[in-house]
Amino acid sequence: MLLEEAVAALAVRPDGFYVDGTFGRGGHAEAIRQRLGPDGRLWLIDQDPAAIAQARAAFGNDDRCLIHHGSFTELRALAERQGVAGRIDGLLLDLGVSSPQLDEAARGFSFLRDGPLDMRMDSSRGITAADWLASADAGEIGRVLKEYGEERFARRIAQAIVDRREQGSPVATTGELAELIAAAVPPRERGKHPATRSFQAIRIFLNGELEALSQILEDACGLLAPRGRLAVISFHSLEDRMVKRFMRAKSSTGHVPSELPVIPDALKPIFKLVGKPVRASEAEVAANPRARSAVLRVAERLP
Ligand SMILES: C[S@@+](CC[C@H](N)C(=O)[O-])C[C@H]1O[C@@H](n2cnc3c(N)ncnc32)[C@H](O)[C@@H]1O
Repeated sequence: MLLEEAVAALAVRPDGFYVDGTFGRGGHAEAIRQRLGPDGRLWLIDQDPAAIAQARAAFGNDDRCLIHHGSFTELRALAERQGVAGRIDGLLLDLGVSSPQLDEAARGFSFLRDGPLDMRMDSSRGITAADWLASADAGEIGRVLKEYGEERFARRIAQAIVDRREQGSPVATTGELAELIAAAVPPRERGKHPATRSFQAIRIFLNGELEALSQILEDACGLLAPRGRLAVISFHSLEDRMVKRFMRAKSSTGHVPSELPVIPDALKPIFKLVGKPVRASEAEVAANPRARSAVLRVAERLP
């Protein structure tokens, strides 16, 4: 999504060093690779083992590429180990779930396809959504639905989940959860399944998505080379708000007492904003309605 726009925003140099922190199916990564010369370098990261299998198949024989299975929050340690912190020319984050994750019923992300209630991006570790819903209390479930899904009927849904569990049949599949939510809330938001917000909330919570985003944004300050670019594509308002606030805060001078003749380093801006937020074109939205919510924001590390 926003492929041309994001890759253009990275202003890829043939001999530059780029990181795609969210490989997915590798669409962006391939577009970056095509712009690299023999001295360029590209690191590919994804926490999904299926994405990494695809990365190995398509990029594994390319000496310019390093493939890492894990969270992009591990990038800082990885870069420090390899002695390249502060040398990255472009970091791309295309956040959220990938189309294959949504389309494959067995991953448990979609209320449209019945499958086990899993929702882990990294299926090699962590607890599944079914396990969490089988043990969390109604207060915690309600808080997650409200905080990460901005769900108005969070308490009602949480109580229905716990009631069902107490009756001896905890929700085990995406279809069961979607039905339970549809029955628990009044019909609303035409064209949107009533479970949309809850599924989003549980996924964000289980995968620690906002915590990971907050960490990588902070880490990016020390990872990028002077004039290195940070390009982030968000899919929902919680992510986009975090990216917007971060980029704004780091690109403006903190409050400087007027009697100071020189601005202390700690108050100097770290980034400058590059262009305005970019949304998907009408053509892209027509071809892929999910692109409607995507927003790209770009910032450049100041020397
Ligand atoms: C929207 S898709 C990326 C699509 C990709 N740009 C492409 O062209 O195919 C998001 C991907 O990011 C991965 N992901 C999300 N959060 C992550 C994190 N904290 N660390 C590593 N990968 C993450 C997901 O597993 C998913 O494969």
